[in-house]
Amino acid sequence: MSFKWIWTYIRPYGLIMLLGLVLVLITSGLAMVNPFMSGMIVDKVIEASQTHLLWSIIAVMVITTLVKSVGRYAYQLIFETVSQGVFKKIREDIYNKIQTLDFDFFNKNRTGDIMAKMTGDMEAVRHFIAWVIYMVFENATIFIFAVTMLFITNAPLALFMVAITPVTGFFAVRLAKEVKPTFFAIREQFSRLNTVVQENISGNRVVKAFAKEGYEIEKFERENEAYREKNVASAQVWSKFLPIIDALASSLMVAMILVGGILVINGSMSLGELVTFNGFLWALNNPMRMVGWLINDTQRFVASAEKVMGLLESEPKITPNEDAVQKDRIRGSVEFCHVGFSYGDEKVLEDISFTAEPGQTVAIIGPTGAGKSTLLNLICRFYDCTEGAIYIDGTDIRQMDLKLLRESIASAMQDVFLFSDTIEGNIAYGVPGATEEQIQWAAQMAGAHEFISTFEEGYDTIVGERGVGLSGGQKQRIALARALLKNPSILILDDTTSSVDSETEHRIHSSLKSYYRDKTTFIIAHRISSVKNADMILVLDEGRIIEQGTHDELLAQKGYYYSVFQNQFGDFDSFISKEVG
Ligand SMILES: Nc1ncnc2c1ncn2[C@@H]1O[C@H](COP(=O)(O)OP(=O)(O)OP(=O)(O)O)[C@@H](O)[C@H]1O
Ligand SMILES: [Mg+2]
Repeated sequence: MSFKWIWTYIRPYGLIMLLGLVLVLITSGLAMVNPFMSGMIVDKVIEASQTHLLWSIIAVMVITTLVKSVGRYAYQLIFETVSQGVFKKIREDIYNKIQTLDFDFFNKNRTGDIMAKMTGDMEAVRHFIAWVIYMVFENATIFIFAVTMLFITNAPLALFMVAITPVTGFFAVRLAKEVKPTFFAIREQFSRLNTVVQENISGNRVVKAFAKEGYEIEKFERENEAYREKNVASAQVWSKFLPIIDALASSLMVAMILVGGILVINGSMSLGELVTFNGFLWALNNPMRMVGWLINDTQRFVASAEKVMGLLESEPKITPNEDAVQKDRIRGSVEFCHVGFSYGDEKVLEDISFTAEPGQTVAIIGPTGAGKSTLLNLICRFYDCTEGAIYIDGTDIRQMDLKLLRESIASAMQDVFLFSDTIEGNIAYGVPGATEEQIQWAAQMAGAHEFISTFEEGYDTIVGERGVGLSGGQKQRIALARALLKNPSILILDDTTSSVDSETEHRIHSSLKSYYRDKTTFIIAHRISSVKNADMILVLDEGRIIEQGTHDELLAQKGYYYSVFQNQFGDFDSFISKEVG
């Protein structure tokens, strides 16, 4: 699975990888030369006194060593380069995938988890390509070559030595089996650790405000300790097998000296051949030792690759419609037809029906948790309704082009998010080509221009991550300006002026009146003052519309709306006098 997957990324580099493997093959072949030469020095130069051969033998040894080094350098470079290329591509794919995923995914996946996949797991995948692949090939070829050479040199001794290797193989496979689950555990724990750190940093203000540093340190220590334990547990499996594998490798040495010595003494093997054997010993030993590490790293790769693949395979529930009804522009009439919605089992909206025409303002009011934000999220298709249907300009929104739909809607959401960019950059986020005048106009409409002008750097002021350095009301107004600049057909303001004082709010709403003229506007608010001019007010409670009408109609009904009104304005007369005054 993991190998098939990684192959799709490596394939474009197929040729250069092949070249790399050929270089591995050549250097492995060259590694066979020197032990032979050492044997020849003993047999020909020392024993047979052919001293004139010495210089040529040494020359051959020096040259092969040089060529080997150059070859090794070349293929290491090749694999490193390929791994960086693949690394970049996978990173890109993950990032692009994240852009397609919807609210549902981000509700269920923690930022720390996703970050862990993009860092630690990706690194394990890269390491596999940069190092493990050629090491496996290098060790396998060296081992095979060496065994062949040994058989050519002296078959009985070779047979004796090679007989030990399957035992090592057996333990290596056992090791692999036992160590694999520990790697998965390590990756899981790493994600958890990441999440704790990420949430601690994002939530540092809450931590400080509640003086919970100690608690946070404890929480971190718990996860950190668990991470250490998981690593130790893995190392324990490892250290159970390593001595066995090492001992088997060393026993080769003993076997060679013992059996080889006897063969030399009884004359069926020359001393030079024994020297050659000794020279090949590392070529048998090394691969056996490496088997452990390579299995280790391959398991690590598999564990990580599965995590990365899981992320790449996540599918958004809301998919852009392939054969969408083509339209150039959305006018903005919105119709809810018996809409119901639930997050999983929890029913949040029930039987919502209403119609809003372009130019109209629909206000939604109701207690917290009533489902107001959810209702507006459905218009943007952040979630699909589970019952009924929503029509925009008469078309079911599920039949519309998702991009066009979202481009035609601008929303200032309840929880404001600002990018670490200039104020100007944040306002122009939806309209990158906006001119300075347009940006200032939007800021003016949103009641933000005044406070922005008081900043030393004005619109070029950088707002930190999450908009540090701005008040809640200031952030809200920048978010409002961002939505207004987009000049959408449908405008959604979710509690956008809740942190703004009533006077500023009043000013904003009256300057927006002309702006609303050709748009369908939805306003969620808790203050009667921000909704009373709406063409239609929906009162939502526990996911149902309990009252519906204009301000005057709702007051006449003397229901929920009336009681909220009474709470906010005392009695009616004082409200009138306030208005007049
Ligand atoms: N992602 C979610 N998963 C599960 N339940 C959710 C989710 N988001 C909201 N809810 C639930 O849906 C209900 C309606 O939430 P919603 O955010 O629409 O309320 P609201 O009317 O906007 O409230 P407020 O005035 O506080 O903003 C709540 O009971 C809430 O617990
Ligand atoms: Mg809400």
